[in-house]
Amino acid sequence: MGNSSAKLLLIGLDNAGKSTILARIMEPDESVNGITPTIGYKKDKFTRDGVDYYVLDMSGESKYRDLWQSNATTIDDKDKIHGIIFVVDSSDKMRIRVAKSELDLILENRSISNQIPFLFYANKCDIKGACTLEEVQDILDLKNLKREYQIVSCSGLTGKGVQEGIQWLTGLVKLMIESGSR
Ligand code: GTP
Ligand code: MG
Repeated sequence: MGNSSAKLLLIGLDNAGKSTILARIMEPDESVNGITPTIGYKKDKFTRDGVDYYVLDMSGESKYRDLWQSNATTIDDKDKIHGIIFVVDSSDKMRIRVAKSELDLILENRSISNQIPFLFYANKCDIKGACTLEEVQDILDLKNLKREYQIVSCSGLTGKGVQEGIQWLTGLVKLMIESGSR
């Protein structure tokens, strides 16, 4: 049997580490160098456990954040999103609060199906004094999130936690595809 295909949206504030994490997902054993801020968005592809992923790595810069909503809506209308990866910089508490308000906008958008699971990467856990997983979870108020979600503490820099997150998502994506719900 051939691979399944799935679509992911990769969002989070600028400098959170989205493109770095994506590079790590694609090449787990390679250290990541030379990533520059994403302009608008970038399309990428990778395969994990029999799933061919197509991913939109969005810029987190404020002038591009409207694209999160519009891309999510148009893609989901046309051919369904299977997961949203939301990255926060755990070393910057103030900005996790800003990220929370951006997350709320996505969650309030009724045209983005509430069947779509969320994977949260609490990134930059290598930085001394970074928020713990529990602190990030509290600021984002994930306990009240009415979605399937997982939060993983990670470092795009060292690779810690990155594979664990995408593995969790892939398990769910496979179930969604098998059951025909997405
Ligand atoms: P935009 O494309 O502008 O939205 O940013 P982004 O979320 O894609 O962030 P990017 O991957 O470009 O990383 C931003 C900066 O954070 C870069 O200098 C990375 O090297 C650094 N960075 C990413 N992940 C980590 C991490 O886990 N730890 C540390 N210490 N630095 C990281
Ligand atoms: Mg980027």
